[in-house]
Formats: sequence, C-alpha cells, structure tokens
Amino acid sequence: MPHMTQSPEGELGRHHAERAAATTEPSTLPKKLHIKTYGCQMNVYDSERMAGLLARHGYTQVSDAAAADLVVLNTCHIREKAAEKVYSELGRLRVMRDERRAAGDGDLRLVVAGCVAQAEGAAMLERAPFVDIVVGPQTYHRLPELLARRERAAGGQLDTDFPLESKFDLLPESAGQSPISAFLTIQEGCDKFCTFCVVPYTRGAEESRPGAAILAEARRLVAGGAREITLLGQNVNAYHGQGPEGRSWSLARLIRELAAIDGLDRLRYTTSHPRDMDEELILAHGQVPALMPFLHLPVQSGSDRVLQAMNRGYSARDFERVVDRLREVRPDIALSSDFITGFPGESDAEFEATIDLVRRVGFAQAFSFKYSPRPGTPGAVMPRQVEESVRGERLARLQTLLEAQAADFNARTVGLTLPVLFERPGRHPGQLVGRTPYLQAVHVTASAESIGTIRPVEIAAAFPHSLAGRLADQPPVADPLTRGALGAAHGPAQPEETFA
Ligand code: SAH
Ligand code: SF4
Ligand code: F3S
Repeated sequence: MPHMTQSPEGELGRHHAERAAATTEPSTLPKKLHIKTYGCQMNVYDSERMAGLLARHGYTQVSDAAAADLVVLNTCHIREKAAEKVYSELGRLRVMRDERRAAGDGDLRLVVAGCVAQAEGAAMLERAPFVDIVVGPQTYHRLPELLARRERAAGGQLDTDFPLESKFDLLPESAGQSPISAFLTIQEGCDKFCTFCVVPYTRGAEESRPGAAILAEARRLVAGGAREITLLGQNVNAYHGQGPEGRSWSLARLIRELAAIDGLDRLRYTTSHPRDMDEELILAHGQVPALMPFLHLPVQSGSDRVLQAMNRGYSARDFERVVDRLREVRPDIALSSDFITGFPGESDAEFEATIDLVRRVGFAQAFSFKYSPRPGTPGAVMPRQVEESVRGERLARLQTLLEAQAADFNARTVGLTLPVLFERPGRHPGQLVGRTPYLQAVHVTASAESIGTIRPVEIAAAFPHSLAGRLADQPPVADPLTRGALGAAHGPAQPEETFA
C-alpha cells in the first residue's frame, strides 16, 4: 500500500501503529495509549503529534486497544463509509470497556479526534454519549487539559473550535527517533470548496506554516533518523508561508531550502491541486535531485462539464498541459491521481471522457471512489443524483483500467536498477521493505543495517502492488532509454540520486 496518498482507512491505521511506536517517549507512569488513525496522511501526522504530546503526560503507546487505558480514534469524514466505521469501532470499544468495568479490571477513556469529531461535534456526544472527549483537528493540543477536565466532571467534553492560536505553536517539538520516511504538515485547511468535499468545513481555512518553523522541524526529523520527508497539506502546492526574511515563500522555494539540509535525501509532497501547479514548482521537478519523480495530482474527472460542476477550476486540457510540462522537465515522473465516479449529473458520455483521459495520460497509481453525498456540501443537494448501482459499475470499469496501468508501470521497472530507501523489516525473516523513487514498495533480502540507507536494487519481479528485487553491485543505469518509457509514451527512469 502506498503511504503517500489517500488510502483505505484500516491499512493506514496499521501502518501508523508501526510508525508511531518509534516516536514514543519513555514514561515512568503506567498509562497506555492506543491511537487508531483513519483517512489521510494529515491524520497520520496529527496522530504522531498527539502521541508526542501525551507522552509528556505519562502515556506510552501500545498497538493493541485491549491493553490501553486511553483510546484515540483519529477519524475521517471524507466519505460516508469512512465516518460510519467510526461508530462501529466505538460500539466495539464500548463493549470492551463495559466488560472491563464489570470484571473490576480498570477503565478506558475514549477520545474521538479528527474530521468526524469536527463535523459532528455535539451530535456525536448525543449519538455516542459514552465517549469521553470529542476534539477537532485544530484543538488537539488541548487534549491534556480536556482529559483533566473529564476526570473532574462527568460527561463528555467537546472542543471543536477553530482557535486563533495555532496548534503548531503550542505542541511540544517532536524529538527523539523519527521514522526513516517522515511526514511534515506545512499547510492545512482549504478554501477551494469543491462541491463534493467536506474538508473546508472540517479543517477550516487554508493556512501555511512559516518557513523557519518547517525548516526547524525538518532538521529535527533528520537528526532523529529521517532520510525522506513528505510535505503534507490538503492543498500543499498552494503553500505560501512566511519566509524568515518576511517575504512569502512558495512551495518550490521551500523545497529548495529543504533540499539543502544535510542528510535529507528525498523529498515528496502531497496532496496537490492541478490549479496550483505553477511553472516554478514544475521546474523544481527537473532541477532538485532530492525531489522524487512521483506526483499525486487528483484530477477527479475527465469531463469539463463535470469538473466545472465540481468547482475544480480547471479543464481536462489544463490538467493534461500540466502533465505534459512535468514530463518535459522530468520524463520519468510517475503520476498518481484521485477519481470520483457518478458525481451528480454525470452522463455515460461524461464518464467515458474520464476513461479517455486515463488512457491518454497513463497513471502509475490511482485511487478512485464512488461519489458519496456528504451532508452540508452543495453536491449532496444537486439534482440528478446518479444511482448507486451506476456509480458502482463506473467505478469497477475505471478501476480495471487503472489497475492495468499500475501493473504495466510496475512491470516496466523490472530489469532496471533503482535506488531504494530501506524503511523497515519485511514480513519474512531477512527481508527488508524499501521504496523506489516512484514510491513502489520493494521487498529485498538484505540485513537490518541497510535500514535507513539508499541502495541500488535490481528489480526482479513485479506484483500488482509491490516489487521484488535484489541488492545490486552496480549503481543504477544512468541511461535506460533503451528500455522503453516509464511515463506513458515518455522517457524512462533516470534516477538522479547519489548513494550513501
Ligand atoms: N485536496 C485533495 C483531495 C482531498 S480528499 C484534492 O483537492 O484533490 C481525497 C480524495 O477523496 C479526493 O481527491 C476525492 O477523489 C475523494 N473524495 C472527496 N470527497 C468525496 C466524496 N464526497 N465522494 C467520493 N470521493 C470523495
Ligand atoms: Fe476538498 Fe477540493 Fe479542497 Fe481538495 S481542493 S480538499 S477536494 S475542497
Ligand atoms: Fe479525511 Fe479529514 Fe483527511 S476528512 S481525508 S481525515 S482531512
């Protein structure tokens, strides 16, 4: 599973438990915390920050909810299914708590954080009155205070403000060990109001963190062992934070500053909006070697009418122009995207326009979803809602095509020698998992000392969602042009990394 893009909620939960375990500070107090993370990488980052904050209050992280005194569900509201999962999980936790209480075996505090907490607010405490704390994504720095309040008073505590203070200024600095591949939130919120989307309501207005704070956090992450940083934001390429000299920094400028940090070998950013892919950022892809040749750029639809109804602010042609420019400056760039099928009013012909766009562009990876009407968004009350069965059929057809493209992309890397950053042990003894510059997961037989290093790996086999390879003696092939294109009908891989 790629960790860069929107991903199935359960998978992300597991992945997070692995990552966050490394960042927990030791504690003398026997309080145990379990965090389950749903939704996007911003939530993964937030969960890590919550774990860091609670560690200062005596909580150590455990991977099993059954062993915890405090369970935090960090939730996602993007689609109905994602939100409903939270209530079923809460139901299970409630049973567990009741059993524990009945057996005289301690207690359990339940916290709901994240976007469902923000969207539902007081309604959540009505539907699930056994929840102890409901806290939104902008106020989780107040968790210790809310927990203390809960101990003093019966009844659920609610905090879903959009406060004037920024949580980033109030959270403790992350310290200690970092994941090899770390996340760093640089921008939050969204002002774009796509007509299907809840994010502007759950995360609030767009806000960029100052450049100096980001550079300092990146240096701490690298000092803690990170070799790759993924810059996060709901609209990460709309970044316009204040530079130390007082002038505004663009994302391209920030990337150049970050690339100069010694020991930081790889940079990525997600999620971008096609409208904010400016020339300066496109050029950075051809000029900054640390910037990996992979970009998640959600297009949503290939129909101009649907794009307009979604309020996306670009046409299919605009999107393809951006792709063409990216491939001019970085021929091997691997593209990923998000799609929605069955947006209100989408006709058969308009859906075909999406299929056509996918055929023309060629994606290395993609996430696609059935349109899910979200309460409070304009899309939910648009006329001509598309029947669920039609949304599903279109999704199945689109996914068949996207999966074939992804398999094809993976297959075309077989035989190449690519630089792989090893992140963690694999499932089998003696095996490590790393990633290629194109974000493909690769399983390789190698010793644990290779974790945290970038090594040349010859790709031996391709599977639908991962690769297998072997350590190579030779550096990556500098000129694999003879091997056929990696980007659809474009030039192949020319990794520009140096080896440690
Ligand atoms: N900021 C990103 C997307 C964030 S949400 C962007 O502008 O593209 C991640 C993805 O979830 C979206 O790209 C979209 O494909 C999907 N999504 C969002 N709202 C949805 C809805 N109501 N129904 C189905 N999919 C949705
Ligand atoms: Fe949602 Fe659109 Fe903002 Fe992305 S740009 S977060 S899809 S409103
Ligand atoms: Fe979900 Fe909130 Fe992220 S709605 S996708 S967790 S911003």
